[in-house]
Amino acid sequence: MNEHYPFVNPPLPYAYDALEPYIDTQTMYLHHDRHLQRYVVELNTILRDQPELQNLSLPELISDPESLPEDVRQGIINYGGGVYNHILYFNGMTNSQTRAGAEALYPAIVRDFGSLEEFFNQYKRKALSVFGSGFAWLVLAPDGTLEIVTTRNQDTPIADGFCVVTGMDVWEHAYYLKRFNDRAAYIEDWFHVVNWEVADELYKQCMNNIENQRETAPAQPSDTLGAPTAEQEPVPAPETYTGPGSGLDELP
Ligand SMILES: [Fe+2]
Repeated sequence: MNEHYPFVNPPLPYAYDALEPYIDTQTMYLHHDRHLQRYVVELNTILRDQPELQNLSLPELISDPESLPEDVRQGIINYGGGVYNHILYFNGMTNSQTRAGAEALYPAIVRDFGSLEEFFNQYKRKALSVFGSGFAWLVLAPDGTLEIVTTRNQDTPIADGFCVVTGMDVWEHAYYLKRFNDRAAYIEDWFHVVNWEVADELYKQCMNNIENQRETAPAQPSDTLGAPTAEQEPVPAPETYTGPGSGLDELP
């Protein structure tokens, strides 16, 4: 994704039907080409008349909303956040046939949540707890611990000082065509298509940010919104948990 205004809608890093049978082709098409596209267009429309904001990267635009001019603040929160959140969401999924391990992230999940099973249980509870529209995120807190947090509408975790590892869109437009109003079923679907390789890379970048004490910069690297990275070695299956979404230790 280009870093500054005018922003563009980057293509999906996989085919529209790549996440079948978990997330259906039509949903992926509408979600990416209609919903995200609208966020991009609306964000650019706002920024067209804001030359002082046109050189800011997306994380810079949305990480400190209070610094924005009041008349465009909520618009940038909504549409800039919408672009940011959706790029992370789309880049954070993968075809179930290409799931890979998470050499750095996995031990941190076990450290901070106790077990993979408890991690997924907590993630599901958090995602179900979002009233209305929003996201459920796995983030790294400034103190270096993993947390599962939720945001409403298109608010972003970086505005709260968190660095994103992966994120689940729980707006109904993410699942309504296939799962109707059954968010719990969609959550189980999403667990099957998490791109743990991307999450692992973002986790390591978040850790590096903390270690480098670059606290004055936005927590989320501006050029690493879950974009595909160089190949990593899959890690051996670490434990025995094989429940829903156990893509961390369960290669197809
Ligand atoms: Fe969405």
